[in-house]
Amino acid sequence: MSPAGVGPAAALPLGALREAVGAEHVLVDPGLTASYETDWTRRYRGRAGCVVRPADTAQVSAVLQACHGTGAPVVVQGGNTGLVGGAVPAGGEVLLSLTRLSSLGEVDLAAGQVSAGAGVTLAALQRHAQAAGLDFGVDLAARDSATVGGLVATNAGGIRVLRYGSMRAQLLGAEAVLADGSVVRRMAGLVKDGTGYDLVALLAGSEGTLGVITQARLRLVPRLRARCVALLAMADADAAIALLPGLRARLPHLSAAELLFAPGMALVREHGALPPPFAQEHPAYLLLECADATDPTDALVDAVGDADGLSDATVAGDSAGQRALWAYREQHTEAINAVGVPVKLDVSVPLGRLAELVRRLEPTIRRVAPAARLIVFGHVHEGNLHVNILDAGPLAEQVTEAVLHLVAELEGSISSEHGVGRQKVGYLSLSRSATEIAAMRAIKDALDPRGVLNPGVLLPAR
Ligand code: FAD
Ligand code: MLT
Ligand code: ZN
Repeated sequence: MSPAGVGPAAALPLGALREAVGAEHVLVDPGLTASYETDWTRRYRGRAGCVVRPADTAQVSAVLQACHGTGAPVVVQGGNTGLVGGAVPAGGEVLLSLTRLSSLGEVDLAAGQVSAGAGVTLAALQRHAQAAGLDFGVDLAARDSATVGGLVATNAGGIRVLRYGSMRAQLLGAEAVLADGSVVRRMAGLVKDGTGYDLVALLAGSEGTLGVITQARLRLVPRLRARCVALLAMADADAAIALLPGLRARLPHLSAAELLFAPGMALVREHGALPPPFAQEHPAYLLLECADATDPTDALVDAVGDADGLSDATVAGDSAGQRALWAYREQHTEAINAVGVPVKLDVSVPLGRLAELVRRLEPTIRRVAPAARLIVFGHVHEGNLHVNILDAGPLAEQVTEAVLHLVAELEGSISSEHGVGRQKVGYLSLSRSATEIAAMRAIKDALDPRGVLNPGVLLPAR
């Protein structure tokens, strides 16, 4: 069924698209479009009507004017590392790839800000900031491919939210092209600007449904060269969660607190041929990182030494040792993907319910998919768990339903940092009221009345 406002087989304005970006940047040959059409998990795929690769804002605007004119639906894509099916076609859309918008402005040292094109990868942004003696507050394992536009559009979180917040907290301005090709631009980097609705903040987390982000003005943070990483072993999630208040009080320079469990540790060790961190396996692990201008090792060692409920612990002050400890956490996603096509459920609950969620996940999933394999890990400070279910087979939707209903019962969110995408459109009412969904729909209809932008993503296509 074609999205509302979009013709039944809305004509692809191929002539106008070639005019806008040059024929060599309008791909129709399946051999050339294939690499854009499947998502990172291999769960979501669809044939694009064509792939269009604009070079700059003016070309993005011309593309959207052309699509808006014929009602051709558009799916917006950055690095295609999204995990909820939001960046790949449902079928027939113009796939708008932003990766060529890779300009990086000079770092404004006085303001601690930088302007970055939507197609700039997180790794390139980090290198650019670090070369100027600063850093960027968001970090995640997809850094080599995830783009600034996608990070803003999903309000990405990652491993530093505890210290710097999610992508929205780094956003000081943006430039975006709306569905009709008109351009909104707030790139001055004003820290305070009280002149009406915050359209920039609205774009964060909009998942390509309200506008195509072409540039972002981003806050930078001090580059902290002194780091220390610890891996703690304990009996369960309760013990890890109980440690958090004391650790936060003792370690003002705590920048990451990541929770992992024995099944994930075993899978990552097997996938990456990694040595065991301790003499024996433990049910749960907490990875901590402190970052400061001066060496935080002593403070971290003391805090770990005084921590209750530990079965074992190790601290790495050198960068090789730190990378080895981070590998146990950062290689989870790849190791899971190497085993099969997971059902990936990124959820969050109030911290006081997190241990209960961990306890109830296994029986909840077993009830609907006895043969499924559960790998759980996540960003514990935010109550954010990544629930990965392998071998769910034809029961993927039943498992999704069971877990998301459990999360809703625990007053949590069906999506913590990956967005709703196509994956969770049908479950939005578990986390947002009818009034909220109606308000979001009103905003969507106001900014994209023909429903050409990412139909079927975040909100149900009409
Ligand atoms: P894409 O996947 O291309 O698109 C994602 C969404 O944004 C889609 O809805 C798309 O339409 C929209 N979009 C993309 N570009 C634009 C634009 N310019 N304007 C408007 N809309 C746009 N995510 C986390 O939050 N935290 C993590 O810790 C994390 N770790 C990850 C680890 C791995 C190994 C992988 C593969 C993914 C991980 N992710 C994580 C998920 C993913 O990296 C993020 O969702 C990221 O923000 C996606 O960026 P992207 O450029 O790949 O976007
Ligand atoms: C992570 O924290 O590693 C990511 O969100 C990816 C995932 O959930 O697999
Ligand atoms: Zn994550």
